[in-house]
Amino acid sequence: MTSMKDKVILITGASAGVGAACAEHFASLGAKLSITGRNEERLNKIKVLCIEACNDESNILATKGDVTITEDLERIVTYTLQKFGRLDVLVNNAATLKTGGLQDTTMELYDSMMNTNMRSAFELSRLVVPYLKKTKGAIVNVSSVAGPRPFPKIMAYAVSKAAMDHFTRCLAQELAPDGVRVNSVNPGTVDTEMYVTNGIMTPEQFAEYKERQCGVHPLGRIASGKDVAQAVAFLASSESSFVTGTNMLVDGGRAGVTPHLVTKE
Ligand SMILES: NC(=O)c1ccc[n+]([C@@H]2O[C@H](COP(=O)([O-])OP(=O)(O)OC[C@H]3O[C@@H](n4cnc5c(N)ncnc54)[C@H](OP(=O)(O)O)[C@@H]3O)[C@@H](O)[C@H]2O)c1
Repeated sequence: MTSMKDKVILITGASAGVGAACAEHFASLGAKLSITGRNEERLNKIKVLCIEACNDESNILATKGDVTITEDLERIVTYTLQKFGRLDVLVNNAATLKTGGLQDTTMELYDSMMNTNMRSAFELSRLVVPYLKKTKGAIVNVSSVAGPRPFPKIMAYAVSKAAMDHFTRCLAQELAPDGVRVNSVNPGTVDTEMYVTNGIMTPEQFAEYKERQCGVHPLGRIASGKDVAQAVAFLASSESSFVTGTNMLVDGGRAGVTPHLVTKE
């Protein structure tokens, strides 16, 4: 993997899961990081891990913030620029997940998921694009296999991810003349606490779920945070210099599975 030395990278949702794995991975590649999340205690733990990975405390900035609040996003961007003076990469990763089809998704829940998963990425991108144009930087959106494939039991989440995929494609077109690339990664199931944190499963239920999920991913396992982080780093780096507007599946073959034909007797 090419070095990300001195590249300045802003990662949302870095206090846990995929975002934390991205932060640690980028730190190990020499990047300067602005990491953010609402839970300050967990965010600071990830900050310590990043400092260990890069061996330079001055490379890591942690700012508490809620991505659904405009003032928080503005503060995160201001602090990032004050500390590092530039921005090379934005990773829009923060998201929330609730289950429900059409009838059991209240409009309040729908709004909350769209605001966290999609609106925040749109708003933060608006704030940082002027700086990414200066560095000919990149945006990597963390979407899901639920973007391109229908998942009716997590309807609002899937709709937010499909919106994110199209946002990725549209913004890639808009920013290509400025040399700014925009791509997404679309993971299958990842071994994070997302289902437990969002109250969808107990830790025991999640352990069983993970076992079952291994069977629906043709590679025979679910993703680690690092599997996703490595794909994010590729799309953030010059190694993907001619890639823009892509929704890159990181799903162990999950989305490619053709359901068996069901024949009725
Ligand atoms: N896990 C999977 O199976 C899976 C599969 C496909 C795609 N993904 C995608 O991967 C990304 C990361 O998911 P994950 O599995 O790492 O989930 P996670 O473990 O639940 O972490 C979610 C992160 O988002 C942050 N976050 C949530 N709401 C926020 C808000 N309003 N403001 C600021 N930060 C907020 C959380 O931080 P705080 O709680 O500290 O705010 C946390 O750092 C998401 O985009 C998700 O859709 C995950």
